[in-house]
Amino acid sequence: MKRTGFATRLGAIAATVGSAVGLGNIWRFPYQAGENGGGAYILVYLLCVLLLGVPIMMSEFVIGRSTHKSMKGAIEQLSPGSPFKFFAYVGVLGALLICGYYSVVCGWVIEYLWSSVSGTLLNHTPEQYSEIFTTFVGTPQRCVMWTLLFLVLNFLVLNRGIEKGVERISNVMMPVLFVLLIVFCVNSLMLPDSDDGLEFLFEVDFDDLGWKGVVDAMGQAFMSLSLGVTCLITYSSYFKDDSNLMKDAVTISMLDSLVAILAGIVIFPAVFSFGLEPNAGPKLIFEILPTIFQQLPGGTIWAVLFFVLLFFASITSTISLSEIPITFMIDEYNISRIKAIIITAVLMTIVAVLSALSFSTLSDVKLLDRNIFDFLDFVGPNFFMLLGGLVTAIYVGWFLNKDIIHNQLTNGGAHRSRFVQPYIIFSLRYIAPVAIILIFLYYVGII
Ligand code: TRP
Repeated sequence: MKRTGFATRLGAIAATVGSAVGLGNIWRFPYQAGENGGGAYILVYLLCVLLLGVPIMMSEFVIGRSTHKSMKGAIEQLSPGSPFKFFAYVGVLGALLICGYYSVVCGWVIEYLWSSVSGTLLNHTPEQYSEIFTTFVGTPQRCVMWTLLFLVLNFLVLNRGIEKGVERISNVMMPVLFVLLIVFCVNSLMLPDSDDGLEFLFEVDFDDLGWKGVVDAMGQAFMSLSLGVTCLITYSSYFKDDSNLMKDAVTISMLDSLVAILAGIVIFPAVFSFGLEPNAGPKLIFEILPTIFQQLPGGTIWAVLFFVLLFFASITSTISLSEIPITFMIDEYNISRIKAIIITAVLMTIVAVLSALSFSTLSDVKLLDRNIFDFLDFVGPNFFMLLGGLVTAIYVGWFLNKDIIHNQLTNGGAHRSRFVQPYIIFSLRYIAPVAIILIFLYYVGII
């Protein structure tokens, strides 16, 4: 079957940025930073992006673009007979689980968009916002309804194909979101006592962190950059052969981290200015944002605009997650795109509905002491993505032919890579495996 591709270089980058920038940056990063004490967590997060994230992103690009296949076919072509190909299944499973629970948060975004449009969102106290959120997630019908609506939209876009669906949305929405975040940053920085928020974000104190914080920061870096579950292998399999993988990986990682930090600068000055708690967990932005919007002139318009953009940021991410099982099935079993979409949709809907119900009907179901949603929010990034990242790093660092890596990173010598390439190889061989294995040792209680 002939594969489509991204139409332009900018489109390919925009779609990959679209995958990276999502609820991970705007919802998950602030709440994780808030739970882990701020500054030190953010420092470790940025180190993980630099030391592990960028090299692993490049190695996913090398695998995908050199073969124009998703993981299993790619490994079969690059290293015939190698058992590494079986990790493709782990990636597919990880993507289904992650996209399942992630869609629930997308459903929350639609609920907040809906109440902004209908004019009921604003004019409450911060305490009331906390209650409103808790009541909402405790209402099974409403949560499930929005989640299902989101999934329908997600699969409708996917049905239009990579170029028409994904690329067009990403090209327009990402830049607008960026500008809006900057506007909100300026607003937050002008709030009284905004300094306390900045101090929380940027003052590094390792006493607040601990091993749990390190694990969370590493998982968050992988989550935010869309690593480890073969998403970027899949996307780069659609890249054109003249794209500059080194430059693209660096640009994408920097833009993605910048969006996360901007989200932090929007949220935390407001948290401290309004006298709220930074460690509110997953509901953090859903309490703070309405409080921010309502002190702005024309609050409703800001709210609608923001939730619309957040919706688009989310759907470009779920599209990339859904594309993993879809492309896998098309490549592996040679079935039609529509069939692959339907199978993926059914499986994802099951996970999504179970997650949506985990604050109400299924709240007593606990895995590792967490409800289903929190469990998936934990094992997705902190297990599946880290495991996938470990496998990718070891495969490319130790097993993949060095000429292939060199040719891909430099496009056959057209770009110079005197420092980048040795750094990447060193990270893939030593830094990333050691760091991730340490985390796994911590899980099993050896550290
Ligand atoms: N990076 C996205 C975010 O921050 C989430 C995401 C999209 C993702 N595609 C992925 C995470 C693939 C892991 C793998 O919101």
